[in-house]
Amino acid sequence: MKIIIIGGGVAGLAIGWRLAEAGQEVTVLERSQPGGGATGASAGMLAVTAELQDASLEEMEFARYSNVLWPSFAEKLEAVSGRKINYAAKGALLLADDAAALSRLSRQAGPGRVLLEPPQVRALVPLVAADGIAGGLWSASEAQIDNRSLGPALAVALQKAGGRILANEAAVRLERERDGRVIGVQTPFGRHAADAVILAAGAWSGLLDKAGEPVSPVKGQMILLAPPAGETVPGPVIWGGGIYAVSRAEGLAIGATMEDAGFDTTVTPQAREMLLRSAEKLMPALGRWTLIEHWAGLRPRAPDGLPMLGPTRSEGLWLAGGQYRNGILFAPAVAETVADQILGRASPIAAFDPRRFGT
Ligand code: GLY
Repeated sequence: MKIIIIGGGVAGLAIGWRLAEAGQEVTVLERSQPGGGATGASAGMLAVTAELQDASLEEMEFARYSNVLWPSFAEKLEAVSGRKINYAAKGALLLADDAAALSRLSRQAGPGRVLLEPPQVRALVPLVAADGIAGGLWSASEAQIDNRSLGPALAVALQKAGGRILANEAAVRLERERDGRVIGVQTPFGRHAADAVILAAGAWSGLLDKAGEPVSPVKGQMILLAPPAGETVPGPVIWGGGIYAVSRAEGLAIGATMEDAGFDTTVTPQAREMLLRSAEKLMPALGRWTLIEHWAGLRPRAPDGLPMLGPTRSEGLWLAGGQYRNGILFAPAVAETVADQILGRASPIAAFDPRRFGT
């Protein structure tokens, strides 16, 4: 089968890798570089606890399943590509600033997730302010990866499996038969015929042609702080005070805003100040760290906040979208379900069926 994937982010590349390994003829059309959009702009966390506190049962099950797939997915990706993506289970610490917040967190306590008193929190992460927290929830096995290395590693793996990536080649139009069936993709450089087209263009998936997929962008701004000489970067992902902090080789990445700003990815002094002040309130020593980067990305959100994974109402057109805040976490399971649906080995997951929205 000839398959065109629109979008070289983590979803498109992981699906393409799986399909290429299954012997399909895969071409990924990427408007810039692999992993250059939300994949590279994200925090790289696999946040099964914090990001999914209000998730539906289906989404939670999907998240947990993907989380279980991640270690072997990462191991295989590194082995095949020869590139490191640094999967590391450094844990996640969710902080509560008052008794009510701690009581809410306590509902998530259970196997692998323990409630901590303030002294235990500080023993784990001494940077956290001595006062101002009522305790925390510690999820020891939660992991993170180097998301900036993920796109390039997946691109190598996909190509080694026989797939093709056309970078700097944006899809501008879907080609359809009279009956609406999708039979290819037009780019500024030519026409690509396909037996199946997978739209995996993140927040941009709703813009292409008349595909009409109801995905919209939610902007997130992040900053990166580098420590002064001699200070160490805490390992766990830390959540509290309206922000999160994720360790990077260079320091701590602090995120993120949630903005309805269309496709605007400019960074603003207001967001920078908000992130800096919130981070300092939570971990006062960060006031002495140096701001070295400030960036923005666009999360793809469906109207109900759930993923859209499977066939669309247009024959020949498939969707891998709406991952919203969990594109990295969901990637192995997204690759599995979308690729296997196309190969006729799996059915759509009802709650994530793209056809649940209108006509
Ligand atoms: N998962 C991180 C974010 O959406 O900001």
